[in-house]
Amino acid sequence: MEQNRHKDVSGEELAQRLGVSRSAVWKAVRALRKDGYEIFAATNRGYRLAPGSDTLSEQGIRLRLPPGCASLSAAILVEKSMDSTNRAAKLLALEGAAHGTLVLAEGQTGGRGRFLRPFFSPAGTGLYMSLVLRPEARGADATLITIAAAIAVCRTIKALTSFAPQIKWVNDIYLDGKKICGILTEATSDFESGGVTSVVVGIGLNYNTREDEFPPELRDRAGSLFPDGKAAISRNAFAAALVCELLRLCESGALAARDFLCEYRALSCVIGRMVEYTKDGACRRARAVGIDDDGRLLVEDAQGGVSALFSGEVSLTL
Ligand code: BTN
Repeated sequence: MEQNRHKDVSGEELAQRLGVSRSAVWKAVRALRKDGYEIFAATNRGYRLAPGSDTLSEQGIRLRLPPGCASLSAAILVEKSMDSTNRAAKLLALEGAAHGTLVLAEGQTGGRGRFLRPFFSPAGTGLYMSLVLRPEARGADATLITIAAAIAVCRTIKALTSFAPQIKWVNDIYLDGKKICGILTEATSDFESGGVTSVVVGIGLNYNTREDEFPPELRDRAGSLFPDGKAAISRNAFAAALVCELLRLCESGALAARDFLCEYRALSCVIGRMVEYTKDGACRRARAVGIDDDGRLLVEDAQGGVSALFSGEVSLTL
């Protein structure tokens, strides 16, 4: 049905193609409906997915992966609900999951952002995904991978919509002045060697969450890609395009070349603005003047002194 979104497929054709009985097809359709798929069934014509049906699925994503995309060979795991896709991906990575393994959930009960902040993850209107990277990521620093992920999100939005997202250093994507996406990059390390064995990049995108669906305390700051609730592109299609872009940017050569930093600087909504940050326990104010080749934010104080800030030590307010 994913392959034939715009036409009916008869029960007989499905049964033949899948090598099962007609009644097995019918039972599968019933099970899919129970899982949340909206399926139209017309007597003598067959089944088709309702046009607005946007249930995340491995099949729906795989179908839209362009040929040559590295993630075609790795596992894609989609669950209805998870505590946190990053947590699940880290556990899979510890068990040996391959580079490119992708974990997605329709909703998260314990979605987390940086500094252990909760990440609002309602079911059905967001894209919550975590990608396992290795071995290209080995030795690569988390800030650069976060920056590559932010670029991948912006490129995907620009390729599939007419929107103009911006990046708030280091890991937040903004649209029309509101945060629509956050990125959490976490490394797992080998206790004995102390080396990084895998990196998990978690992306949380408010996809078609309407303003009234956000908790009141988030409404001023949080937005979504399709704030009217009507997604013009399915989440499966978006996830497929995003994961390919991200895997391309995280190839060791691309990470080492850091070519994407120019694009990152151009998309920054921070450069040129006054920012506040905390360093050595003191709150400071400075003007953001650039992003260096290691992805650090360069800020200039009132005396003209320039410092480079690591993502972990600042909380920015615009
Ligand atoms: C932030 O805004 O500080 C980062 C938010 C990252 C949220 C994503 S949602 C998918 C993945 N699973 C998590 O628990 N967190 C990330």
